Amino acid sequence: MRYLCRSSILLLAVHTILLVCCTCAAEEEKYALLHVSAHDAQSLHLIKQLQLNDYKYDLDFWKSPSSISDKADIMVKRGKPERMLRQILSFANVTVAMSVPDVEKLIMRNEGTTSKSRLGGVFTKWLHDDPILDSEPDLDLTKVGTLKKAKYPFGDYASYADMVKYMRTIEFYYPRIAKIVRIGATHEGKPIEGLKIGARSTHKKRAVWVDGNIHAREWASSHTALYFINQLVSGYGTDPQITNYVDTLDFYIVPCLNPDGYEYTRSSPIPSVRLWRKNRSPEVCRPSLWGGEKCCQGVDLNRNFRFHWAERGSSYEPCSNIYHGEEVFSEPETKAIRNFLGNSEMKDRVDAFVTLHSYAQLWIYPYSHEEQNYPEDIGELRKTARKAINRLSRVYGTNYRMGTGADTLSPAAGGSDDWAKSALNVKYVYLIELRPQMELSNGFILHKKELIPTAVETFEGFREVVDAVLVLNNSTSSTSGAASGNNSGATRKTISDLQMRKQQYRMRLLASQAARDTTRSTQTSRSTTTTTTTKSTTTSELTTTNEAKPSRHFDRFTADPNSSTRARPTPPMAPPMMSSLSTTEFSTSTEDIVGDDVITTSSMAARATTRFGFYTATKPSAFLDPDCRDMRYSCGFWLKNNKQVCEEQQSFMRAQCAYTCKFCTSFIKRH
Ligand code: ARG
Ligand code: ZN
Repeated sequence: MRYLCRSSILLLAVHTILLVCCTCAAEEEKYALLHVSAHDAQSLHLIKQLQLNDYKYDLDFWKSPSSISDKADIMVKRGKPERMLRQILSFANVTVAMSVPDVEKLIMRNEGTTSKSRLGGVFTKWLHDDPILDSEPDLDLTKVGTLKKAKYPFGDYASYADMVKYMRTIEFYYPRIAKIVRIGATHEGKPIEGLKIGARSTHKKRAVWVDGNIHAREWASSHTALYFINQLVSGYGTDPQITNYVDTLDFYIVPCLNPDGYEYTRSSPIPSVRLWRKNRSPEVCRPSLWGGEKCCQGVDLNRNFRFHWAERGSSYEPCSNIYHGEEVFSEPETKAIRNFLGNSEMKDRVDAFVTLHSYAQLWIYPYSHEEQNYPEDIGELRKTARKAINRLSRVYGTNYRMGTGADTLSPAAGGSDDWAKSALNVKYVYLIELRPQMELSNGFILHKKELIPTAVETFEGFREVVDAVLVLNNSTSSTSGAASGNNSGATRKTISDLQMRKQQYRMRLLASQAARDTTRSTQTSRSTTTTTTTKSTTTSELTTTNEAKPSRHFDRFTADPNSSTRARPTPPMAPPMMSSLSTTEFSTSTEDIVGDDVITTSSMAARATTRFGFYTATKPSAFLDPDCRDMRYSCGFWLKNNKQVCEEQQSFMRAQCAYTCKFCTSFIKRH
């Protein structure tokens, strides 16, 4: 208990110093992201207290620490606030490392468009460019027919209007398997829409729920959910397993649960706007310490559900980032989810509830309101989670951990996942914290080039959850495509999966062999690589025609391994070249033709030539310079295969592998 007392005194000191500093100095507008780690129980407690009091010190916790030596990421204004915070933390045996010195610069670099097209780019205001959603009072769904294609700019960040437009065009062209569901509207009146994907059936089908972007700033999550939609729709009729999924189950995918918050974060690259977490509910005021009152907008939607509401890891303070709202289900967005999943159509049908967040690379299962509290069937939840993260990591080597939110991050009551498990009694409930991982990463500001790889690998992990749901219902995911519902089907599945994995393994071996050859080779082979890695920001299109014709592409993760037209192997790890900064190749293929309802377009993964390991994760290193960093696998690999790579690809390696190439030795010596 003594440390509690001491840390409270320290906290008081922080409080006083920060308040003095914040009121006297002209505030600087730059923000830094600090990487903070405690070394004992007392300092850990202090950090956790700081999070609960984030609103007092104007701190934005991007990530909370789960234990001693686990890291917290804290965004703070540069200048005096940062200096003071550092000073206090250093008294308390906390290590502080600069992770991102200028968050806005990072935002512009990773998410902004070029200055030329900036006005029409990422930071445009919402809806003004959208003819469908602007047509009030009722949305004119017939207009989607004039769009000719279902289009979404995968590999880039897009507006909520673009997401909705994409989903509506999917519904328009694939009415037999896709239907828009509008679960409610936001505070600002935006429709919260998703897609129900499932082939018609005479009986009530079991259901799988997926949502994203309940937290406004977690942009990669809606992109990933939309990619799930794309995979299910484009795989139906071409990929036997996906066909079986869609025949057997109904998927309800709502990519963006918090469109008000999402559009707000898109409205400016200023960190306090871009990093907004809550919804945009009207201001609530509380008396201020210094007289008068302080008013703030927004509720943390993932603290507003009925499960140990308003207990640990959430706040009564409207200005806090983890404000749980005035009462349970006070928000239209959370009400919408509750009403939709509780209605007669959905009741007792949902077998999986997957909610997408970022970041930390965690596969979280319930319960997260307090440490070491688990549902009865935790064994099965863990088993499927383990399979999912293994399957995910086989795609690009991305490393995930699993556990409850309380055990891996921090206790946080009132989350949708815990509510789904306890109130809806859903079997497989997972909250997935997407890329990047925690160590020295850019947190929420994920580079666009990581979007598709993130989505591709997560979909692979998700398939393991869907497979578990099928097994639960004694269905099969046999490659015949039809649900036969018997055990022989399940056996066939096992064999076919095994074959497929063996094949993938062989492909990987070939790929690394090819990588060695490529790195050794001359300019000729490099230019070949260049041509295979084109733009990363292209559009995925499902074109329509009356004629159905088989796709010439196959999803490399799902294609029949015995087929001679099997997808190309996993591409070799690229020799580092500027061109290979594009992690994926997506082309809008005119060969992908869909007929009426039968979609034979290739899956995007088939065309993704992702350089695995590229942006997968940064390496936790001892040095403090945030620019002096390394990509986890690739740098060592490249160097091993080509001793000259640091000289030959200097500017690229300087950016990506500074530490491995010893470009930072001067920095290290200086410190
Ligand atoms: N980062 C997530 C959040 O703060 C983790 C949630 C884990 N689940 C939970 N029910 N607290 O919302
Ligand atoms: Zn989140």
